[in-house]
Amino acid sequence: MLGIETSCDETAAAVVRGRAPGPGVMLSNVVASQIAAHKPYGGVVPEIAARAHVEILEEVVERALADAGVTIADLDGIAATAGPGLIGGVAVGLTAAKALALASGKPLIALNHLEAHALTARLTHGVPFPFLLLLVSGGHCQLLICEGVGRFTRMGTTIDDAAGEAFDKTAKLLGLGFPGGPAIEEAAKTGNAKRYRFPRPLADADGFDFSFSGLKTAVRRIADSVDYDDQIVSDIAASFQAAVTEVLAGRSRKAMRAVREMDLNINHLVVAGGVAANETLNRLLCAAAADEGFEFVVPPMKLCTDNGAMVAWAGLERLQLGLTDTLAAVARARWPLDRRSEGVARAKA
Ligand code: KG4
Ligand code: ZN
Repeated sequence: MLGIETSCDETAAAVVRGRAPGPGVMLSNVVASQIAAHKPYGGVVPEIAARAHVEILEEVVERALADAGVTIADLDGIAATAGPGLIGGVAVGLTAAKALALASGKPLIALNHLEAHALTARLTHGVPFPFLLLLVSGGHCQLLICEGVGRFTRMGTTIDDAAGEAFDKTAKLLGLGFPGGPAIEEAAKTGNAKRYRFPRPLADADGFDFSFSGLKTAVRRIADSVDYDDQIVSDIAASFQAAVTEVLAGRSRKAMRAVREMDLNINHLVVAGGVAANETLNRLLCAAAADEGFEFVVPPMKLCTDNGAMVAWAGLERLQLGLTDTLAAVARARWPLDRRSEGVARAKA
């Protein structure tokens, strides 16, 4: 399966082979990052991203095929992210996949980007359904029960910023550059996480929702009130990272207890999305899972951030179930993963 990913600022393509539930074999995984193009603006500029995808996608796909030692004729199908994401970029990748599918007569799979993140742990570790998923990226922060391909139940979500967004905005505030997550993690290494006690929003609330905008405001208040030096920036970064990761791990722990009580036969906690690359988060989640008797699974860092292999794998799982798409598939800026919120999004549209 060829997988194409263009929903944000990575132009990516990969070829993956395998069978559900995995693990699969990654024959190639090419990621061309646009970070340099967006850096001067401190964030991803949608129009620049879309143009960059157009310029480089063909080369990235060719390289993915060459690295894998296959041609289009060897493929069983062509998968691409069809949303959610920056619509210009999504359209570029999806249109390219349609063209390849049309020209080759191979099946097209138009994928939900979040499903691709969610199923990555099956590509890497063959995690069986059902499993509990903490999906933490630049655009999303959700706790989901993954029952099967296309079958997700959302337990909680962010009521304001996504976790990665909070990292990115805080990094910008501290002058740490873009993307924010890795910059904060790096600065935090030399910081004192106990120096500032930032709020743990919704920590005692019912349910499994997240909130990060108050935390960001608290960081701004401190940042505005002190004379900066490198140590203070590191201390703020470390204290902020401690707050975010404790909230994420705390909610995940609560979710593990809840699904255990529901007797759903869930034994795995999986973390996915760009923020899953964060080592402090991983340490806390690993400890929480061990306490609760869950197996903790985190894909390698290069498969946590956006990539084509996760798209190829999710496409492969869908194809094996006969779930293919027609050339009428549309690019979608918004596309919730779970059935309940999908109904809400349709009603609003
Ligand atoms: O999944 P992803 O590559 O793109 C989206 O679909 O959003 O996630 C990107 C997000 C960015 O917000 C980035 O700052 C965050 O993941 N991120 C991290 C780390 N590496 C990337 N956040 C915290 N710690 C990291 N090490
Ligand atoms: Zn992503």
